[in-house]
Amino acid sequence: MARDDKLKLGTFVYTFGFHPAAWLHPESDVNGANDIAHLANVAKISEAAKLDFMFFADSPAAAIGHPDALARQPTKMNRFEPITAITALSMVTEKLGFVATASTSYYEPYNIARLYASADHISGGRMCWNVVTSDHDETGYNYNREGLDPHADRYARGEEFLDVVFGLWDSFEDDALLLDRENGVYHDKDKLHQLDHKGEHFQVRGPLNIARTPQGRPVIAQAGGSERGRELAARTAEIAFSLASNIDKNAAFYADVKGRMAKYGRNPDDLKIMPGIVVNVGRTREEAEARAQEMVDHMHPEVGLLMLQEFLETDLHGADLDAPFPMDRMPAKAKGSEAMFAEVKEFVEQGHTLRDLITHYARKHTGNGLTGSYMEVADYMQEWFEARAADGFILMFPTLPASLRDFAELVVPELQRRGIFREEYEGSTLRENLGLSWPENRYTLARSAAE
Ligand SMILES: Cc1cc2nc3c(=O)[nH]c(=O)nc-3n(C[C@H](O)[C@H](O)[C@H](O)COP(=O)(O)O)c2cc1C
Repeated sequence: MARDDKLKLGTFVYTFGFHPAAWLHPESDVNGANDIAHLANVAKISEAAKLDFMFFADSPAAAIGHPDALARQPTKMNRFEPITAITALSMVTEKLGFVATASTSYYEPYNIARLYASADHISGGRMCWNVVTSDHDETGYNYNREGLDPHADRYARGEEFLDVVFGLWDSFEDDALLLDRENGVYHDKDKLHQLDHKGEHFQVRGPLNIARTPQGRPVIAQAGGSERGRELAARTAEIAFSLASNIDKNAAFYADVKGRMAKYGRNPDDLKIMPGIVVNVGRTREEAEARAQEMVDHMHPEVGLLMLQEFLETDLHGADLDAPFPMDRMPAKAKGSEAMFAEVKEFVEQGHTLRDLITHYARKHTGNGLTGSYMEVADYMQEWFEARAADGFILMFPTLPASLRDFAELVVPELQRRGIFREEYEGSTLRENLGLSWPENRYTLARSAAE
């Protein structure tokens, strides 16, 4: 059914692009990982295309497990810390929003509140925090632990963490700064509040030493798929990322998470559900297929094998690439996308070699490789949007900036022609452009309720 609102779109950022072989692509900038000019270029193309934001996935660790494959796959081995990069990028853009991932397992709430509030001021209200509890084993080793804390413990800490950060962001009320030079009073002391939080995980007195931000507070994003993750999203998130496996599953996820919001007094429109999809687009389907194949051809089998191992959570080391898949190493079920797992299993049962499977998986990577003409890509997005399986998408471009540029030139005008994507930014903050409501300051609310 047609909708009154517009699609929301974000550029997913791994330095060279989402594909593990992106850095080998002749058009990619091989020096880009430590060169802010590369990301500035991606930001400018995203903004010219009127996309909502750039999304920086992150995890505070470099892997060590498979050194040969990792030496051929720089994606997570050499990259900027997101908030640092974003503060620079916000100076060369005006409207584009920025989503930076940071983990509640390894920061303290006061640090996060300060960092994101600062970035929200610096960017003029374009900052979003993607709240993760971290799901990679390797992160814990950098933070005084032997691997990951249990899921329930990470969520318990994460939930309290968010409450503290929200509290700190309310320290100054909206109109607390008087800037009264005549009487020499900078801020209204009655409009600056101490949090005095004493909980199971944190003791934080406050107040935060930075004023309320241009968005009231930065936008909150989350990507938790578990029961606890969905509940936290319904209570606190304004963007929820999901893995796009199929339209029916996403429509169910959409209805489930939005359906949980009423009990927290929230309007379902204040949460945008955005599945991540890998997009290979061309003028024709053949052109898109050829581009996707070109990326696979660039990829070293070691890298493909590592990717497959991570997906299947099995050890394929030493297996013969030119023999059929060793069935004794096939897990009983998937931890990630079930649809993708079913597809891999079916492919294997047809007797294909491990080498073929690596290629096949690399083509489908993440459970939803959308490869097609710009019309087909636009059809897909429109269908999901109108079926309320999505409010928008995180676009995982195989290469940056090449695939982003293709999308901007081919798909964006088509979405605009159909009236489902903006021609111009609606406002100047990310919150305004996403159509999210203003977060009232708790102390101002309490005062007006008492009056
Ligand atoms: C589109 C998308 C992006 C994600 N980005 C990150 C990320 O940057 N860092 C991270 O630690 N986890 C990331 N995740 C993983 C989630 O934070 C979460 O751990 C995962 O979805 C499992 O959820 P659960 O712990 O509630 O089961 C992402 C997930 C999705 C679907």
